[in-house]
Amino acid sequence: MNLPNIKDARIRTNNKINYMEAKNIKSDEFKGKKYFIRTYGCQMNVHDSEEIKGILENLGFNETDNLEQADIVVLNTCAIRENAHDKVFGFLGRLKHLKKENPNLIICIGGCMPQEESVANLLKEKYPFVNIVFGTHNISELGSLILEQKEKQQIEVYSIEGNVYEHMDYVRDSKITAWVNIMYGCDKFCTYCIVPFTRGRQRSRKMANILEEVKELKEKGYMEITLLGQNVNAYGKDLEEEVDFATLLENVAKLNIPRIRFVTSHPWDFTDEMINVIAKYDNIMPYIHLPLQSGSSKILKLMGRRYTKEEYINLYNKIKEHIKGVSITTDIIVGFPNETEEDFEETLDVVKKCQFDGAFTFIYSPREGTPASKIKDSISLKEKEERLYRLNEIINDYSLKHNKEYIGKTEEVLIIGTSEKGENKVCGYTKTMKLVNVSNAQSDIGKIIDVKITSAKSFSLDGEKVVFIKN
Ligand code: SAH
Ligand code: SF4
Ligand code: F3S
Repeated sequence: MNLPNIKDARIRTNNKINYMEAKNIKSDEFKGKKYFIRTYGCQMNVHDSEEIKGILENLGFNETDNLEQADIVVLNTCAIRENAHDKVFGFLGRLKHLKKENPNLIICIGGCMPQEESVANLLKEKYPFVNIVFGTHNISELGSLILEQKEKQQIEVYSIEGNVYEHMDYVRDSKITAWVNIMYGCDKFCTYCIVPFTRGRQRSRKMANILEEVKELKEKGYMEITLLGQNVNAYGKDLEEEVDFATLLENVAKLNIPRIRFVTSHPWDFTDEMINVIAKYDNIMPYIHLPLQSGSSKILKLMGRRYTKEEYINLYNKIKEHIKGVSITTDIIVGFPNETEEDFEETLDVVKKCQFDGAFTFIYSPREGTPASKIKDSISLKEKEERLYRLNEIINDYSLKHNKEYIGKTEEVLIIGTSEKGENKVCGYTKTMKLVNVSNAQSDIGKIIDVKITSAKSFSLDGEKVVFIKN
């Protein structure tokens, strides 16, 4: 994919981008003004938005969840599937209308979409009311772009990765659980996936910096951290220091933060050392998200996933055998170009053999610039939709079956907030990442408590706090 080629816009093409000076800019210029931010896409974007919030608050803005009251709106976008685009362009229509009523409204589009050449050009040509367009490699520059935007539309998107940032002023969404980036980008280049283009090549953070951040979070009272990357178990492969994910995980575990999670693991990089470390430390949660994508070895090869159906199942069984009580979820794409009914049945076969705790399932969406998008596809959308439906029925049955196994058991649950279920309930997660709605625990937000599970649905559990009566 090429660098967006936008006439009149300021696009830098130098190899080594250095806008460190733009980091953590502080100003009073927008004191008392309000920002509204909407985040699409994966955890990477959710955490990037915490960085964006830090930048905006450093300029004096305060957050509002009321769009009508906002002085600046930031959309942090995702490009993974076509429908992600549609949502953003739909929202932009609404913003255009708002800007007519409030011409001073500052509109910013960032994240993965502007990293696509066609999108950046479209924003330039057809959306002149958008003030600022920025990409994933220059988030830290947003502060200076906002201060400069009065003169003209600012478009700064880089195709070349920037530095790995340390010590950004994050405004974290939670005081209980925190994201910790361990790497940026992805080197896997699965043939259907746009991420290596929108996020760039893999760049791991130095282990010492990651450990320092986790230590700080622990001191601030955080109960849980999630190590974040598109491919966490490829951690370190790009670093000079000899370090891998198992070593990092073990060092993080030794810092004694109560709960450690990580997403996402690629089956190809999953080592025995990782399994041993996860099994050894109580504070590494027994929950693994292990994307399968397809059960057909033929399709997996076309996807560039570098494992076969059998290798995936073997790994799955090995993890189940060595990590007590582990729960495993997955991602599956239905309808990769020319996927036959037999290929799809191979996927169903893996699902039946593995009986996942849960799965995110998607219809394949061709992404411009990726190798798979050039394959001529003979399978109709209707057929793909039917397959997705069949797959989801089975997935949901297994989720429910697993969840029902919890009924009557007592589980440790980290309570993270009030429940959407109302009735004065709170909610939290088991070690195995099951969402539980809990009654009688209003004062336990931020604590790990024992909960007796009373009922189960496909996507959540219900339970009651266990109260120990001292003799
Ligand atoms: N790095 C992670 C996931 C990244 S994106 C991994 O490799 O597992 C999250 C999920 O979106 C992927 O696991 C995949 O199932 C899905 N996805 C990615 N590209 C897609 C596409 N072009 N069409 C449909 N689904 C896609
Ligand atoms: Fe995309 Fe594959 Fe990288 Fe995951 S591992 S982000 S699916 S290229
Ligand atoms: Fe979407 Fe970008 Fe994440 S494309 S899934 S927000 S890395």
